[in-house]
Amino acid sequence: MAQPRPGRAAGVGARQERERGRCAPEVAMIGARMQEALNRHVQAEVFSSYLYLAMSAWCEAKAWKGFARWLRVQGDEELAHAKKSLDFLLTRGGEAKLGPIEAPPSSWASVLDLFEKVLEHERKVTAFVNDLSVTAQQEKDRAAEVFLHWFVSEQVEEEARVTEIVDRIRLVGDRPGAVLYLDKEYGK
Ligand code: FEO
Repeated sequence: MAQPRPGRAAGVGARQERERGRCAPEVAMIGARMQEALNRHVQAEVFSSYLYLAMSAWCEAKAWKGFARWLRVQGDEELAHAKKSLDFLLTRGGEAKLGPIEAPPSSWASVLDLFEKVLEHERKVTAFVNDLSVTAQQEKDRAAEVFLHWFVSEQVEEEARVTEIVDRIRLVGDRPGAVLYLDKEYGK
């Protein structure tokens, strides 16, 4: 019977040691504070997704089909952001400790009110992402700092996109025909 080659056996052993090390807190590659912050980030992004899903459902029920579609797509993006952050945490040997997701509101006064709330929410997410970056700096976690650059840039784009919608809805005021035109535009 063929004997295992010593080099290969040593390689497997080393890999098993490394895999064991991933689970051991004393050798985790990512610090506890950064892990906790990233877990909260995942929670925040999932809540964003949940909020936009609720907003999309409200728009759908009010026959704002275009805005409903825009919000559904946005909600999917937020869930992708949550997974991106979770994957980074896991790749670094961190532990997923996901928190509860609170229920979002179920109704809004108007389409303008709804998008003002989206903007308000995105500003909170921006502040959260900025705080995460500060945590990464304080922890001297360079990998997390670089990883978070993407989220910082993404928030600039998201705030700009939502600000444009809010500005345009404010511009047309309460003329239903004009708001319907915007609804059609954003549903494309
Ligand atoms: Fe992924 Fe809009 O925060």
